[in-house]
Amino acid sequence: MADDESHAEEGDSRPDRDVTGADAETPAAPRADGGAVDDVALDPWGSSTVADYRKLFEEFGIEEFDDVLDSVSEPHYLMRRGVIFGHRDYRPVAEAMLNDEPFAALSGFMPTGDPHIGHKLVFDELIWHQQQGGDAYGLIADLEAHSARGIQWDDIDEHAESYLLSLLALGFDPEEGELYRQSENEELRNLAFELGSKANFSEFQAIYGFDGETSISHMQSVVTQMADILYPQLEEPKPTVIPVGPDQDPHVRFARDLSTRMRFFKVTEAYASFELDDAERELVAIAYEALADGTDDAETDIRCEEAAEWLEDEAPDSTALWDTVETLKAGGKEPLRPRVRFFDRNATEDAFEALIEAIDGEKRVYEGHIDTFDLDREAAEELAREIEVDNGGYGFIAPSSIYHRFMTGLTGGKMSSSEPASHISLLDDPADGYDKVKAATTGGRETAEKQRELGGEADECPVYELYAYLLTGDDDEFAAEVYEECVNGERLCGGCKEQAAQLMEEFLEEHQEKREEAKELLDDLDIQLESSRK
Ligand code: TRP
Ligand code: SF4
Repeated sequence: MADDESHAEEGDSRPDRDVTGADAETPAAPRADGGAVDDVALDPWGSSTVADYRKLFEEFGIEEFDDVLDSVSEPHYLMRRGVIFGHRDYRPVAEAMLNDEPFAALSGFMPTGDPHIGHKLVFDELIWHQQQGGDAYGLIADLEAHSARGIQWDDIDEHAESYLLSLLALGFDPEEGELYRQSENEELRNLAFELGSKANFSEFQAIYGFDGETSISHMQSVVTQMADILYPQLEEPKPTVIPVGPDQDPHVRFARDLSTRMRFFKVTEAYASFELDDAERELVAIAYEALADGTDDAETDIRCEEAAEWLEDEAPDSTALWDTVETLKAGGKEPLRPRVRFFDRNATEDAFEALIEAIDGEKRVYEGHIDTFDLDREAAEELAREIEVDNGGYGFIAPSSIYHRFMTGLTGGKMSSSEPASHISLLDDPADGYDKVKAATTGGRETAEKQRELGGEADECPVYELYAYLLTGDDDEFAAEVYEECVNGERLCGGCKEQAAQLMEEFLEEHQEKREEAKELLDDLDIQLESSRK
């Protein structure tokens, strides 16, 4: 193939200063997203770009997807190729998938414009999780589009339908999964209201930079998104993954937080009647292990004050140490005994009573908490959730997320919906799609000679991205071939773009046919296509 491609290249009629098909000045030109200004700002309504994905791990605590890749039995190509680069707490989802247990996947789309190839990543992620046995949810964030972006309802309706058609055309099964519009989902809005009771304005300021000028509806759209994220768990708690771009991470973190705040009980480990924070607990655990010296007998007579002395002698100095010692000294002669503690966070009286009833073995009941001595942490968590659900609570499991890389715009810089040349809309005329790829910036060298000598820069090339993210589909060999041939200098940009452009044209043709077919399906679904709002 490399040969054919180079021939195509040689026959290219473009001017000779641009034989690689790249715009000559592009390789040296600064990339629009290369600035330091917003390279780690995660702003759901801003123009997020990520110049350095590593910072997302270091500064925001997003975890590397590679760490969980092994626990996914047949990972999607976007996972295999590192397009899905990060996650929060994906393990429970992966485990549920492996064990054939219930799990869900949900994502939402703001109907502000036409769906484009960037959205296709998320459509594909949802569909894949659905095919792995998950309950899949696709929602139209019309309340958000209206309140945060000021889009009128007529336009919202048009775009909403278009997103739904593409999602269906790509293979979302609406019989198995659920599609909804925020504006039409009463259960969702009720949940949003409940969640709003656990959130306050200071947090909105801190997380989203809201201020006195922010409209109330915009704030409502935030709690609505929190409700979206937890919606799959209304029937029963289950691991839920939210596939999104990293700009949505603030929402994910907040939703995880709120899911915890809604819980009836908080389960912690303790050693005595008083509270310890995590660092202190760790120190007490060390002292306890050392002093108990392997006896399995829970009834040791190690006293708090002994543990304090031991720590003073043996543990390295730190503030946590001084705090722990002080706390232990105040505990005096109280014996240390490991226990699992249930705190009453939001429990109803009935639920608290039911929990007391349900705990086997030794327990001590206090005003706002219960200490148990024969339960391990995990069993306690499970019991807490069970009692909560039985007593009218949600029992939420903190939602998980996966993050995909943003696609580079075809003209370099950010792929932006408002700049038609930078992206390919799923509605683009296939011939226009072809032309846009042909006109794209590349990672090529200034001349064919240099390209043969040095190889192209596939890692910097929006065209290679098209291959990796979309055009090669599940075919890893094909993707690797393009990459290798490019960096070896066997592949020249003209031919490479010609091939990509043809594939794009075919993809758009096929996709648009399927969208036509999906129209009938969509009409039959129980989803409002025309909003009653004005
Ligand atoms: N805020 C998202 C966006 O800007 C859309 C959205 C709404 C969403 N609710 C969601 C995404 C729930 C994921 C999960 O595109
Ligand atoms: Fe050129 Fe390589 Fe990009 Fe293809 S992948 S367009 S050969 S830089």
